[in-house]
Amino acid sequence: MARTLIINGTIISPTGLSAGDVLVDGETIAAIFQPGQVAALGITADRTIDAKGKYVIPGGIDVHTHMELPFGGTEASDTFETGSNAAAWGGVTTIVDMALQRYGENVQEGLATWHRKAEGNCSIDYAFHQIIGGIDDQSLKDMTYLVENEGVTSFKLFMAYPGVFYSDDGQILKAMQTASENGAMIMMHAENGIAIDVLVAQHLARRETDPKYHSISRPSLLEGEATHRAIVLSKVAGNVPLYIVHMSAAEALDEVAQAQNEGLNVFAETCPQYLYMTLEDHLAQPGFEGAKYVCSPPIRSKHDHRHHHADLWKGLRMNELAIVSTDHCPFCMKDQKELGMGDFSKIPNGIAGVEHRMELIYQGVVLGEISLERWVETCSTTPARMFGMYPKKGIIAAGSDADIVVWDPNAKTKIGINDKHHMNTDHSAWEGTVIDGKVDTVMSRGMVVMENNKFTGRKGHGKYIRRGLSQYLH
Ligand code: URP
Ligand code: ZN
Ligand code: ZN
Repeated sequence: MARTLIINGTIISPTGLSAGDVLVDGETIAAIFQPGQVAALGITADRTIDAKGKYVIPGGIDVHTHMELPFGGTEASDTFETGSNAAAWGGVTTIVDMALQRYGENVQEGLATWHRKAEGNCSIDYAFHQIIGGIDDQSLKDMTYLVENEGVTSFKLFMAYPGVFYSDDGQILKAMQTASENGAMIMMHAENGIAIDVLVAQHLARRETDPKYHSISRPSLLEGEATHRAIVLSKVAGNVPLYIVHMSAAEALDEVAQAQNEGLNVFAETCPQYLYMTLEDHLAQPGFEGAKYVCSPPIRSKHDHRHHHADLWKGLRMNELAIVSTDHCPFCMKDQKELGMGDFSKIPNGIAGVEHRMELIYQGVVLGEISLERWVETCSTTPARMFGMYPKKGIIAAGSDADIVVWDPNAKTKIGINDKHHMNTDHSAWEGTVIDGKVDTVMSRGMVVMENNKFTGRKGHGKYIRRGLSQYLH
Protein backbone atom coordinates (compact mmCIF):
# COMPACT_ATOMS: atom_id res chain seq x y z
CA MET A 1 0.00 0.00 0.00
CA ALA A 2 1.35 3.47 -0.90
CA ARG A 3 2.54 5.68 1.93
CA THR A 4 2.33 9.46 1.76
CA LEU A 5 3.80 12.00 4.17
CA ILE A 6 2.24 15.44 4.44
CA ILE A 7 4.94 17.50 6.12
CA ASN A 8 5.44 20.98 7.58
CA GLY A 9 1.72 21.86 7.69
CA THR A 10 -0.45 23.32 10.42
CA ILE A 11 -3.06 20.73 11.37
CA ILE A 12 -6.43 22.16 12.36
CA SER A 13 -8.94 20.41 14.57
CA PRO A 14 -11.95 21.80 16.49
CA THR A 15 -9.73 22.09 19.56
CA GLY A 16 -6.80 23.93 18.08
CA LEU A 17 -3.91 24.30 15.67
CA SER A 18 -0.70 22.29 15.83
CA ALA A 19 2.42 21.85 13.75
CA GLY A 20 2.80 18.25 12.63
CA ASP A 21 3.46 15.74 9.88
CA VAL A 22 0.77 13.28 8.78
CA LEU A 23 1.65 9.77 7.63
CA VAL A 24 -0.92 8.16 5.36
CA ASP A 25 -0.66 4.43 4.81
CA GLY A 26 -3.04 3.12 2.17
CA GLU A 27 -6.49 4.47 2.91
CA THR A 28 -5.93 5.56 6.50
CA ILE A 29 -3.97 8.00 8.59
CA ALA A 30 -1.26 5.88 10.22
CA ALA A 31 0.31 8.45 12.53
CA ILE A 32 0.81 12.11 13.29
CA PHE A 33 4.34 13.18 14.15
CA GLN A 34 5.52 16.26 15.95
CA PRO A 35 8.00 18.45 14.02
CA GLY A 36 11.39 16.73 13.81
CA GLN A 37 10.10 13.25 14.65
CA VAL A 38 9.89 12.04 11.04
CA ALA A 39 13.62 12.58 10.50
CA ALA A 40 14.57 11.39 13.97
CA LEU A 41 12.60 8.16 13.58
CA GLY A 42 13.68 7.62 9.95
CA ILE A 43 10.07 7.53 8.68
CA THR A 44 9.89 7.15 4.89
CA ALA A 45 7.08 7.27 2.35
CA ASP A 46 6.50 6.77 -1.37
CA ARG A 47 5.44 10.34 -1.73
CA THR A 48 5.89 13.57 0.25
CA ILE A 49 3.59 16.58 0.07
CA ASP A 50 5.12 19.74 1.49
CA ALA A 51 2.41 21.76 3.25
CA LYS A 52 4.71 24.54 4.53
CA GLY A 53 2.68 27.69 5.15
CA LYS A 54 -0.54 25.72 4.59
CA TYR A 55 -3.30 24.22 6.70
CA VAL A 56 -3.97 20.49 6.86
CA ILE A 57 -7.64 19.88 7.62
CA PRO A 58 -10.03 16.90 7.57
CA GLY A 59 -11.86 16.62 4.26
CA GLY A 60 -15.09 18.59 4.13
CA ILE A 61 -18.37 16.74 4.74
CA ASP A 62 -21.46 18.16 3.06
CA VAL A 63 -24.47 16.57 4.76
CA HIS A 64 -27.13 18.06 2.52
CA THR A 65 -26.94 17.47 -1.23
CA HIS A 66 -29.47 16.57 -3.93
CA MET A 67 -27.81 14.88 -6.90
CA GLU A 68 -30.22 13.90 -9.68
CA LEU A 69 -33.26 14.90 -7.58
CA PRO A 70 -36.52 14.96 -9.57
CA PHE A 71 -38.04 18.27 -8.47
CA GLY A 72 -39.99 21.21 -9.87
CA GLY A 73 -40.82 19.45 -13.13
CA THR A 74 -37.20 18.67 -13.90
CA GLU A 75 -34.17 16.96 -12.33
CA ALA A 76 -31.21 18.42 -10.44
CA SER A 77 -28.49 18.77 -13.07
CA ASP A 78 -25.53 17.22 -11.26
CA THR A 79 -25.21 13.47 -11.49
CA PHE A 80 -23.37 11.66 -8.71
CA GLU A 81 -20.36 11.69 -11.04
CA THR A 82 -20.32 15.41 -11.86
CA GLY A 83 -21.44 16.43 -8.38
CA SER A 84 -18.90 14.32 -6.52
CA ASN A 85 -16.12 15.56 -8.80
CA ALA A 86 -17.14 19.17 -8.13
CA ALA A 87 -17.23 18.39 -4.41
CA ALA A 88 -13.65 17.08 -4.63
CA TRP A 89 -12.60 20.32 -6.35
CA GLY A 90 -14.02 22.10 -3.34
CA GLY A 91 -12.24 20.09 -0.65
CA VAL A 92 -15.23 17.88 0.14
CA THR A 93 -14.48 14.19 0.63
CA THR A 94 -17.91 12.93 1.80
CA ILE A 95 -21.41 13.92 0.78
CA VAL A 96 -24.63 12.80 2.42
CA ASP A 97 -27.26 12.92 -0.29
CA MET A 98 -31.03 12.75 0.17
CA ALA A 99 -32.58 9.54 -1.17
CA LEU A 100 -36.21 10.10 -2.14
CA GLN A 101 -39.49 8.43 -1.28
CA ARG A 102 -42.60 10.27 -2.47
CA TYR A 103 -46.22 9.78 -1.53
CA GLY A 104 -47.37 6.38 -2.80
CA GLU A 105 -43.82 5.10 -3.28
CA ASN A 106 -41.96 2.45 -1.32
CA VAL A 107 -39.16 3.67 0.96
CA GLN A 108 -36.83 0.73 0.34
CA GLU A 109 -37.29 1.07 -3.42
CA GLY A 110 -36.52 4.79 -3.11
CA LEU A 111 -33.29 3.98 -1.32
CA ALA A 112 -32.41 1.28 -3.87
CA THR A 113 -32.91 3.81 -6.66
CA TRP A 114 -30.44 6.15 -4.96
CA HIS A 115 -27.89 3.35 -4.61
CA ARG A 116 -28.25 2.65 -8.33
CA LYS A 117 -27.66 6.32 -9.17
CA ALA A 118 -24.56 6.62 -6.96
CA GLU A 119 -22.84 3.24 -7.07
CA GLY A 120 -19.71 3.21 -9.21
CA ASN A 121 -20.07 6.87 -10.11
CA CYS A 122 -18.63 8.82 -7.20
CA SER A 123 -15.04 10.00 -6.85
CA ILE A 124 -15.49 10.62 -3.10
CA ASP A 125 -17.37 8.75 -0.37
CA TYR A 126 -21.10 9.13 0.00
CA ALA A 127 -23.91 8.29 2.40
CA PHE A 128 -27.67 8.80 2.37
CA HIS A 129 -30.41 10.38 4.41
CA GLN A 130 -33.91 9.26 3.41
CA ILE A 131 -36.60 11.75 2.46
CA ILE A 132 -39.99 10.44 3.61
CA GLY A 133 -42.56 12.18 1.42
CA GLY A 134 -45.38 9.79 2.24
CA ILE A 135 -45.77 8.84 5.90
CA ASP A 136 -47.95 5.75 6.39
CA ASP A 137 -47.75 2.49 8.33
CA GLN A 138 -45.39 0.90 5.81
CA SER A 139 -42.98 3.84 5.56
CA LEU A 140 -42.83 4.05 9.36
CA LYS A 141 -41.79 0.37 9.46
CA ASP A 142 -39.29 1.01 6.68
CA MET A 143 -37.67 3.81 8.68
CA THR A 144 -36.71 1.31 11.34
CA TYR A 145 -35.55 -1.17 8.71
CA LEU A 146 -33.23 1.45 7.21
CA VAL A 147 -31.78 2.34 10.62
CA GLU A 148 -31.17 -1.29 11.54
CA ASN A 149 -30.04 -2.66 8.18
CA GLU A 150 -29.03 0.01 5.71
CA GLY A 151 -26.86 2.54 7.53
CA VAL A 152 -29.47 5.25 6.98
CA THR A 153 -30.14 6.84 10.35
CA SER A 154 -31.71 10.20 9.49
CA PHE A 155 -34.96 11.12 7.74
CA LYS A 156 -35.93 14.38 6.14
CA LEU A 157 -39.55 15.51 6.45
CA PHE A 158 -41.19 18.57 4.92
CA MET A 159 -43.57 21.12 6.43
CA ALA A 160 -43.36 22.89 3.04
CA TYR A 161 -44.27 21.97 -0.56
CA PRO A 162 -47.93 20.80 -0.10
CA GLY A 163 -48.79 18.18 -2.69
CA VAL A 164 -45.13 17.35 -3.30
CA PHE A 165 -43.17 16.32 -0.19
CA TYR A 166 -45.40 17.85 2.53
CA SER A 167 -46.39 15.99 5.70
CA ASP A 168 -49.04 17.24 8.12
CA ASP A 169 -48.43 17.57 11.85
CA GLY A 170 -50.01 14.21 12.68
CA GLN A 171 -47.81 12.42 10.16
CA ILE A 172 -44.75 14.24 11.45
CA LEU A 173 -45.59 13.26 15.02
CA LYS A 174 -45.89 9.60 14.00
CA ALA A 175 -42.52 9.69 12.23
CA MET A 176 -40.97 11.34 15.28
CA GLN A 177 -42.46 8.70 17.58
CA THR A 178 -40.91 6.05 15.33
CA ALA A 179 -37.56 7.85 15.51
CA SER A 180 -37.77 7.98 19.28
CA GLU A 181 -37.97 4.17 19.23
CA ASN A 182 -35.23 3.47 16.69
CA GLY A 183 -32.81 6.29 17.60
CA ALA A 184 -32.93 8.09 14.27
CA MET A 185 -32.53 11.82 13.69
CA ILE A 186 -35.47 13.73 12.19
CA MET A 187 -34.37 16.42 9.74
CA MET A 188 -36.97 19.08 9.09
CA HIS A 189 -37.64 21.47 6.24
CA ALA A 190 -39.37 24.00 8.49
CA GLU A 191 -41.56 26.43 6.55
CA ASN A 192 -45.34 26.71 6.86
CA GLY A 193 -46.14 25.49 3.35
CA ILE A 194 -49.92 25.79 3.69
CA ALA A 195 -49.76 29.51 4.53
CA ILE A 196 -47.05 30.09 1.91
CA ASP A 197 -49.27 28.61 -0.81
CA VAL A 198 -51.97 31.17 0.04
CA LEU A 199 -49.48 34.04 -0.21
CA VAL A 200 -48.05 32.69 -3.48
CA ALA A 201 -51.52 32.55 -5.03
CA GLN A 202 -52.24 36.12 -3.89
CA HIS A 203 -49.03 37.46 -5.45
CA LEU A 204 -49.69 35.66 -8.72
CA ALA A 205 -53.26 37.01 -8.76
CA ARG A 206 -51.77 40.53 -8.57
CA ARG A 207 -49.43 39.63 -11.48
CA GLU A 208 -46.42 39.81 -9.18
CA THR A 209 -44.54 37.10 -11.00
CA ASP A 210 -40.83 38.04 -10.79
CA PRO A 211 -38.31 35.85 -8.94
CA LYS A 212 -38.11 38.27 -5.98
CA TYR A 213 -41.71 37.35 -5.04
CA HIS A 214 -40.42 33.89 -4.20
CA SER A 215 -38.84 35.45 -1.11
CA ILE A 216 -41.64 37.92 -0.41
CA SER A 217 -44.21 35.11 -0.40
CA ARG A 218 -42.20 33.05 2.12
CA PRO A 219 -41.77 35.41 5.11
CA SER A 220 -39.20 34.56 7.75
CA LEU A 221 -42.00 34.51 10.34
CA LEU A 222 -43.36 31.38 8.67
CA GLU A 223 -39.96 29.71 8.98
CA GLY A 224 -39.86 30.67 12.66
CA GLU A 225 -43.40 29.37 13.20
CA ALA A 226 -42.71 26.02 11.52
CA THR A 227 -39.44 25.64 13.43
CA HIS A 228 -41.32 26.23 16.69
CA ARG A 229 -43.98 23.67 15.72
CA ALA A 230 -41.36 21.08 14.77
CA ILE A 231 -39.64 21.58 18.12
CA VAL A 232 -42.91 21.17 20.04
CA LEU A 233 -43.74 18.00 18.12
CA SER A 234 -40.27 16.58 18.80
CA LYS A 235 -40.74 17.33 22.50
CA VAL A 236 -44.15 15.60 22.53
CA ALA A 237 -42.56 12.61 20.78
CA GLY A 238 -40.11 12.25 23.69
CA ASN A 239 -37.34 14.77 22.98
CA VAL A 240 -36.47 12.98 19.76
CA PRO A 241 -33.33 14.41 18.10
CA LEU A 242 -34.42 17.09 15.65
CA TYR A 243 -32.20 18.77 13.07
CA ILE A 244 -33.54 21.85 11.29
CA VAL A 245 -32.10 21.94 7.77
CA HIS A 246 -31.09 24.97 5.67
CA MET A 247 -31.97 27.66 8.22
CA SER A 248 -32.31 31.14 6.74
CA ALA A 249 -34.20 33.15 9.34
CA ALA A 250 -33.33 34.84 12.64
CA GLU A 251 -36.75 33.87 14.03
CA ALA A 252 -36.00 30.19 13.42
CA LEU A 253 -32.60 30.54 15.09
CA ASP A 254 -34.28 32.06 18.16
CA GLU A 255 -36.52 29.01 18.41
CA VAL A 256 -33.57 26.62 18.21
CA ALA A 257 -31.55 28.58 20.77
CA GLN A 258 -34.50 28.61 23.18
CA ALA A 259 -35.04 24.87 22.73
CA GLN A 260 -31.36 24.22 23.40
CA ASN A 261 -31.57 26.35 26.56
CA GLU A 262 -34.44 24.13 27.67
CA GLY A 263 -32.22 21.10 27.16
CA LEU A 264 -34.03 19.76 24.10
CA ASN A 265 -32.15 17.71 21.51
CA VAL A 266 -32.53 20.29 18.76
CA PHE A 267 -29.81 21.08 16.21
CA ALA A 268 -29.62 23.14 13.05
CA GLU A 269 -27.60 23.88 9.95
CA THR A 270 -27.37 26.85 7.65
CA CYS A 271 -25.93 27.22 4.14
CA PRO A 272 -23.58 29.77 2.54
CA GLN A 273 -26.36 31.42 0.52
CA TYR A 274 -28.13 32.44 3.75
CA LEU A 275 -24.93 33.96 5.15
CA TYR A 276 -24.07 36.11 2.12
CA MET A 277 -26.94 36.66 -0.33
CA THR A 278 -29.80 39.16 -0.15
CA LEU A 279 -33.14 39.61 -1.87
CA GLU A 280 -32.06 43.04 -3.12
CA ASP A 281 -28.64 42.06 -4.52
CA HIS A 282 -29.54 38.63 -5.88
CA LEU A 283 -33.23 37.70 -6.24
CA ALA A 284 -34.19 41.19 -7.43
CA GLN A 285 -31.60 41.35 -10.20
CA PRO A 286 -33.01 42.69 -13.51
CA GLY A 287 -35.09 40.51 -15.80
CA PHE A 288 -35.11 36.83 -14.94
CA GLU A 289 -31.56 36.79 -13.45
CA GLY A 290 -32.97 36.45 -9.93
CA ALA A 291 -34.10 32.90 -10.78
CA LYS A 292 -30.52 31.75 -10.19
CA TYR A 293 -31.03 32.42 -6.49
CA VAL A 294 -34.46 30.85 -6.00
CA CYS A 295 -34.23 28.28 -3.23
CA SER A 296 -36.35 27.40 -0.20
CA PRO A 297 -36.29 28.75 2.40
CA PRO A 298 -35.59 31.88 0.38
CA ILE A 299 -32.77 34.40 0.42
CA ARG A 300 -33.88 37.13 2.86
CA SER A 301 -34.11 40.92 2.53
CA LYS A 302 -31.37 43.10 3.97
CA HIS A 303 -34.13 45.51 5.01
CA ASP A 304 -36.11 42.87 6.92
CA HIS A 305 -37.07 43.55 10.55
CA ARG A 306 -34.29 41.13 11.59
CA HIS A 307 -30.58 40.99 10.62
CA HIS A 308 -30.57 37.44 9.34
CA HIS A 309 -26.93 37.28 8.17
CA ALA A 310 -25.53 38.68 11.41
CA ASP A 311 -27.72 36.41 13.50
CA LEU A 312 -26.79 33.29 11.53
CA TRP A 313 -23.06 34.03 11.88
CA LYS A 314 -23.67 34.55 15.60
CA GLY A 315 -25.48 31.20 15.66
CA LEU A 316 -22.44 29.54 14.11
CA ARG A 317 -20.13 31.08 16.71
CA MET A 318 -22.41 30.06 19.59
CA ASN A 319 -23.06 26.51 18.31
CA GLU A 320 -26.78 27.25 17.99
CA LEU A 321 -26.02 26.31 14.39
CA ALA A 322 -23.90 23.19 14.46
CA ILE A 323 -23.20 22.67 10.77
CA VAL A 324 -22.85 24.43 7.44
CA SER A 325 -24.12 22.35 4.52
CA THR A 326 -24.93 23.54 1.00
CA ASP A 327 -28.36 22.09 0.14
CA HIS A 328 -26.69 21.63 -3.25
CA CYS A 329 -29.62 21.35 -5.67
CA PRO A 330 -28.38 22.51 -9.06
CA PHE A 331 -30.51 23.64 -11.99
CA CYS A 332 -29.40 25.29 -15.22
CA MET A 333 -31.05 28.53 -16.34
CA LYS A 334 -31.70 27.04 -19.78
CA ASP A 335 -34.68 24.67 -19.85
CA GLN A 336 -34.77 24.41 -16.04
CA LYS A 337 -34.98 27.72 -14.13
CA GLU A 338 -36.65 29.03 -17.32
CA LEU A 339 -39.68 26.87 -16.50
CA GLY A 340 -40.65 29.67 -14.11
CA MET A 341 -40.49 32.61 -16.52
CA GLY A 342 -43.63 34.63 -15.86
CA ASP A 343 -44.46 32.61 -12.71
CA PHE A 344 -41.91 32.56 -9.88
CA SER A 345 -43.68 29.59 -8.24
CA LYS A 346 -42.63 27.37 -11.16
CA ILE A 347 -38.90 28.14 -10.90
CA PRO A 348 -37.18 24.93 -9.72
CA ASN A 349 -35.98 25.58 -6.17
CA GLY A 350 -32.28 25.15 -5.57
CA ILE A 351 -28.75 26.54 -5.81
CA ALA A 352 -25.54 24.72 -6.75
CA GLY A 353 -22.92 25.03 -4.05
CA VAL A 354 -21.20 21.75 -3.16
CA GLU A 355 -17.94 23.03 -4.67
CA HIS A 356 -17.77 26.29 -2.75
CA ARG A 357 -18.80 25.72 0.87
CA MET A 358 -15.28 25.25 2.24
CA GLU A 359 -14.18 28.39 0.39
CA LEU A 360 -17.15 30.55 1.38
CA ILE A 361 -17.04 29.58 5.04
CA TYR A 362 -13.26 30.06 5.13
CA GLN A 363 -14.00 33.61 3.98
CA GLY A 364 -16.01 33.89 7.21
CA VAL A 365 -12.73 33.20 9.03
CA VAL A 366 -11.01 35.93 7.01
CA LEU A 367 -13.86 38.33 7.81
CA GLY A 368 -13.57 37.55 11.53
CA GLU A 369 -16.98 35.87 11.84
CA ILE A 370 -15.68 32.48 13.03
CA SER A 371 -12.35 30.91 14.00
CA LEU A 372 -10.28 28.46 11.95
CA GLU A 373 -11.22 25.76 14.43
CA ARG A 374 -14.91 26.51 14.04
CA TRP A 375 -14.55 26.39 10.24
CA VAL A 376 -13.26 22.82 10.51
CA GLU A 377 -15.79 21.93 13.20
CA THR A 378 -18.87 23.16 11.30
CA CYS A 379 -17.77 21.87 7.90
CA SER A 380 -16.25 18.52 8.81
CA THR A 381 -16.03 17.32 12.41
CA THR A 382 -19.58 18.02 13.58
CA PRO A 383 -21.12 16.74 10.33
CA ALA A 384 -19.30 13.45 10.98
CA ARG A 385 -20.44 13.28 14.62
CA MET A 386 -23.98 14.48 13.99
CA PHE A 387 -24.56 11.80 11.38
CA GLY A 388 -22.70 8.80 12.79
CA MET A 389 -19.44 8.77 10.82
CA TYR A 390 -16.92 9.85 13.47
CA PRO A 391 -13.96 9.26 13.90
CA LYS A 392 -13.69 7.43 10.56
CA LYS A 393 -14.50 10.81 9.05
CA GLY A 394 -14.16 14.40 10.25
CA ILE A 395 -10.79 14.46 12.01
CA ILE A 396 -7.07 14.21 11.31
CA ALA A 397 -6.20 11.38 13.69
CA ALA A 398 -4.40 8.04 13.59
CA GLY A 399 -6.85 5.36 12.42
CA SER A 400 -9.19 7.75 10.62
CA ASP A 401 -9.78 7.62 6.88
CA ALA A 402 -7.15 9.62 5.03
CA ASP A 403 -9.63 12.25 3.85
CA ILE A 404 -7.40 15.29 3.94
CA VAL A 405 -7.34 18.77 2.45
CA VAL A 406 -4.24 20.91 2.19
CA TRP A 407 -5.47 24.49 2.24
CA ASP A 408 -3.41 27.45 1.07
CA PRO A 409 -4.31 30.60 3.02
CA ASN A 410 -2.00 32.73 0.86
CA ALA A 411 -3.59 31.98 -2.51
CA LYS A 412 -6.89 33.30 -3.81
CA THR A 413 -9.87 31.61 -5.47
CA LYS A 414 -12.01 33.38 -8.04
CA ILE A 415 -15.35 31.66 -8.42
CA GLY A 416 -17.16 31.91 -11.74
CA ILE A 417 -18.18 30.07 -14.85
CA ASN A 418 -14.85 30.96 -16.56
CA ASP A 419 -12.83 30.75 -13.37
CA LYS A 420 -13.37 28.04 -10.76
CA HIS A 421 -16.61 26.18 -11.52
CA HIS A 422 -16.98 22.42 -11.97
CA MET A 423 -20.65 21.85 -11.12
CA ASN A 424 -22.98 20.93 -13.98
CA THR A 425 -24.77 24.26 -14.28
CA ASP A 426 -24.67 26.93 -16.97
CA HIS A 427 -24.17 29.70 -14.43
CA SER A 428 -22.61 30.20 -11.01
CA ALA A 429 -24.67 31.69 -8.20
CA TRP A 430 -21.30 32.84 -6.80
CA GLU A 431 -20.04 34.45 -10.03
CA GLY A 432 -17.16 36.87 -9.38
CA THR A 433 -16.75 36.04 -5.68
CA VAL A 434 -13.08 36.10 -4.64
CA ILE A 435 -11.93 34.04 -1.65
CA ASP A 436 -8.72 34.76 0.29
CA GLY A 437 -7.65 31.13 0.35
CA LYS A 438 -7.59 28.09 -1.90
CA VAL A 439 -8.03 24.33 -1.95
CA ASP A 440 -4.50 23.13 -2.71
CA THR A 441 -4.58 19.33 -2.52
CA VAL A 442 -7.43 16.91 -1.73
CA MET A 443 -7.04 13.29 -0.65
CA SER A 444 -9.94 10.84 -0.45
CA ARG A 445 -9.09 7.69 1.56
CA GLY A 446 -5.43 8.05 0.63
CA MET A 447 -5.98 8.82 -3.06
CA VAL A 448 -5.09 12.32 -4.25
CA VAL A 449 -8.20 13.47 -6.11
CA MET A 450 -7.21 17.09 -6.74
CA GLU A 451 -3.81 18.77 -6.89
CA ASN A 452 -2.03 21.44 -8.93
CA ASN A 453 -5.40 22.69 -10.21
CA LYS A 454 -6.12 19.30 -11.77
CA PHE A 455 -8.74 16.69 -10.94
CA THR A 456 -6.90 13.39 -10.39
CA GLY A 457 -9.77 11.39 -8.92
CA ARG A 458 -11.41 8.29 -10.29
CA LYS A 459 -15.05 7.50 -10.95
CA GLY A 460 -16.02 4.66 -8.65
CA HIS A 461 -13.36 5.34 -6.02
CA GLY A 462 -16.08 6.70 -3.72
CA LYS A 463 -17.66 4.12 -1.39
CA TYR A 464 -21.02 4.02 0.34
CA ILE A 465 -20.68 4.84 4.04
CA ARG A 466 -23.07 3.00 6.33
CA ARG A 467 -23.75 5.44 9.12
CA GLY A 468 -24.42 4.80 12.79
CA LEU A 469 -26.76 6.77 15.03
CA SER A 470 -25.87 10.38 15.77
CA GLN A 471 -22.86 10.59 18.06
CA TYR A 472 -23.66 14.10 19.18
CA LEU A 473 -25.78 12.86 22.07
CA HIS A 474 -24.23 9.50 22.79
O1 URP B 1 -34.53 25.05 -2.68
C1 URP B 1 -34.21 23.96 -2.20
N1 URP B 1 -33.88 23.93 -0.93
N2 URP B 1 -34.19 22.86 -2.96
C2 URP B 1 -33.89 21.56 -2.55
C3 URP B 1 -35.01 20.87 -1.83
C4 URP B 1 -35.03 21.20 -0.38
O2 URP B 1 -36.04 21.68 0.11
O3 URP B 1 -34.03 20.97 0.31
ZN1 ZN C 1 -35.64 21.43 2.19
ZN1 ZN D 1 -32.39 20.23 0.46
